[in-house]
Amino acid sequence: MISVGVNLMSSKDSVLIAPPHVAAIAPYQAGKPIEELAREFGLDPKQIVKLASNENPLGMPESARLAIVAATAQLGRYPDPAGFELKHALSARWSVPQNWLTLGNGSNDILELVASALLEPGSSVVYAQHAFVVYRLATQARGARHLVVPAKDFGHDLPAMLEAIDDTTRVVFIANPNNPTGTYLPNAQLEAFLAAVAQRHGTRVTVVLDEAYNEFLEPELRVDSVGLVKRYANLLVSRSFSKAYGLAGLRVGYAIAQPTLTDLMNRVRQPFNVNSLAQAAAIAALQDTEFLAKSFAVNRDGKAQLQDGFAKLGLTFIPSYSNFVLVKVGDAPHVNLELLKRGVIVRPVAGDGLPEWLRVSIGLPHENQTFLDALTAIVQADAK
Ligand SMILES: Cc1ncc(COP(=O)(O)O)c(C=O)c1O
Repeated sequence: MISVGVNLMSSKDSVLIAPPHVAAIAPYQAGKPIEELAREFGLDPKQIVKLASNENPLGMPESARLAIVAATAQLGRYPDPAGFELKHALSARWSVPQNWLTLGNGSNDILELVASALLEPGSSVVYAQHAFVVYRLATQARGARHLVVPAKDFGHDLPAMLEAIDDTTRVVFIANPNNPTGTYLPNAQLEAFLAAVAQRHGTRVTVVLDEAYNEFLEPELRVDSVGLVKRYANLLVSRSFSKAYGLAGLRVGYAIAQPTLTDLMNRVRQPFNVNSLAQAAAIAALQDTEFLAKSFAVNRDGKAQLQDGFAKLGLTFIPSYSNFVLVKVGDAPHVNLELLKRGVIVRPVAGDGLPEWLRVSIGLPHENQTFLDALTAIVQADAK
């Protein structure tokens, strides 16, 4: 069989051949690092405020730092490939058996494992317009097709997503809350969707409920997603330690799903995908309810600060259920550049189909204020 590829380089002695679906991937654009901005604009890195990657402004919990220090003693050895201790802690936290849990190198890894386990060229994936960019990347890397459903009020239109599922669909990705829009789906809508998918398609279609930002929701809004996993064999819930738990740099997340689906995930998982320090830190962070409560409170107050600031400036924003706010600034490349010159890094989202908007992660009160002061100065200068 002849495989068709794309010639990526054509210098005389180095030619790389890649399948067309891989060559077509537009790589993930990460938030600009502080050091890079400091170099570019000659700024003092200590004065720079980074509100671009939805990180925890409190940093990591002290409990996790101490766990890491203790775990360094064993760094000469491979990590526990089964992640027994962390799964033990998660199993107790969620009242599910350990064979319902998959650990990931960040929850990003979980999304990739789903794609590796379930997709192949010819299969398709349903997700919403303006949904988390990794759904597109993971789909594209497997040569599968995207069935992108137009957003409704910037959020997921679940009835339309249900209708978009066709005979080739293997996976539906749902982010709740969603990134970059910060929108939220209530329990009743999710339940109706899951029931309809199960009724029409049985377990042929896996629904991934990505709850990376779940801990920022008011408790009464949180969906009983683990209860749903117990009812639906085709549901996988994905969670992250990067956001409310403050461990973004360590890369650790997990999935909860019934054993058949979990078994598939483990077949494609690298044996040592979660390192020892991440496992130790995640156990400590999971038990650190004080840190989690503080993360929630800082985020709730910072959200009010940013949203009030936008309202005062007369800027449209999408009320957020997460740890960032999407704000409409019009000429986003211009406003972004002016913010960068003033030492503030936020996230342009043109690549998500939102060219007039910026996504601003919620920081500490003084960081939010630095950003709002800079934005006010830019808006006022532009109005002259
Ligand atoms: C919706 C959503 N899911 C998953 C992730 C992946 O996070 P991590 O790999 O750090 O757990 C992110 C990161 O920004 C996200 O926004």
